[in-house]
Amino acid sequence: MIRNTLRKLVGRRRPVVPLVPYDMFDEIRTFKDVDSAKRLERIYHVGQNKAWAGKDVLQGLVAKHGGIHLPEEKQQALSRVFAVILWGELAAWKVSAQLAVELTPLEAKLAATSQAHDEARHFYVMHDYLELLGYQPGELPPAARATLQGVLSADTLAKKLVGMQLMVEPIALTIFQLIRESRVEPVLMELLPYYERDEARHVALGINHLPAMLRGMGPLDAFELWAWQLKMFELEIAGMRELGPAFRVLGVSERDVLRLGMAKQLIAFRAMAREIGHEAVAIELFKRLYDFRIEFGWPEGGEDGDRLQRLLSAMLKVVDGVKPVDTTIEAA
Ligand SMILES: [Fe+2]
Ligand SMILES: [Fe+2]
Repeated sequence: MIRNTLRKLVGRRRPVVPLVPYDMFDEIRTFKDVDSAKRLERIYHVGQNKAWAGKDVLQGLVAKHGGIHLPEEKQQALSRVFAVILWGELAAWKVSAQLAVELTPLEAKLAATSQAHDEARHFYVMHDYLELLGYQPGELPPAARATLQGVLSADTLAKKLVGMQLMVEPIALTIFQLIRESRVEPVLMELLPYYERDEARHVALGINHLPAMLRGMGPLDAFELWAWQLKMFELEIAGMRELGPAFRVLGVSERDVLRLGMAKQLIAFRAMAREIGHEAVAIELFKRLYDFRIEFGWPEGGEDGDRLQRLLSAMLKVVDGVKPVDTTIEAA
């Protein structure tokens, strides 16, 4: 009897979360919402049509190029950069699987489910590639680890979506593009376009679903999200600094990674702001701050010269407005 009374009390206190969301089609949608929903649904169907057989693609490329042959120094540098990608793929798999479970609107759920399927393939193919390269899985450098940990442990779905789809994935797209263009290793060079096509759809999930998540957000929550983003930007910059020596060995400059990464993130954030219905001032402030960090930390022509001179020159450039690199986040 005591147990029954306790159970009733506990039962009464527990919030009722419906296991089956019968109200998933009850939402009232604007024309803009309907457009976004169509684009999200398309992500799922395109993802299904363009799913590639990871084992076959990798084996085919290895056979075509007669294996992977790289000098020791480049092999280690490539392992260092792509170890971050490997664990980033696992983090993206976890976040997208969680989104697939927790997002209610059908079309967003479909897009997240499709992403989880892609990320599983990205993870095992990258694992197989790195194994051929001789990489032994180990711990990531601190800032890269903190970035992924920050997204995985974020306390809201909005942060996870911003962090993964609008911040981490554009940086992954940047690394894929620059390493592909460096032509450092033929198998990877032909493998990366498969990743790039898939990642572009994942960024589109963020652009098209975030506005609906952000619309109901109060000013305090919005401020907290911006503050969190700022912390994540700083971690991303620290992560690039950690990988700097490896990028240099591969013939890629850190400045190029940061500038292209910023340009791709900016496209994603501006597209999202347009979906909400305005150009967000905060996004432009972030751009200026990030421009300053790049122009001061990685000035054109190297870090030589007086520190004060560099500071003034970076400030002047930011006041004048730095033109972002011409790029896209669309699939090639
Ligand atoms: Fe991926
Ligand atoms: Fe992805």
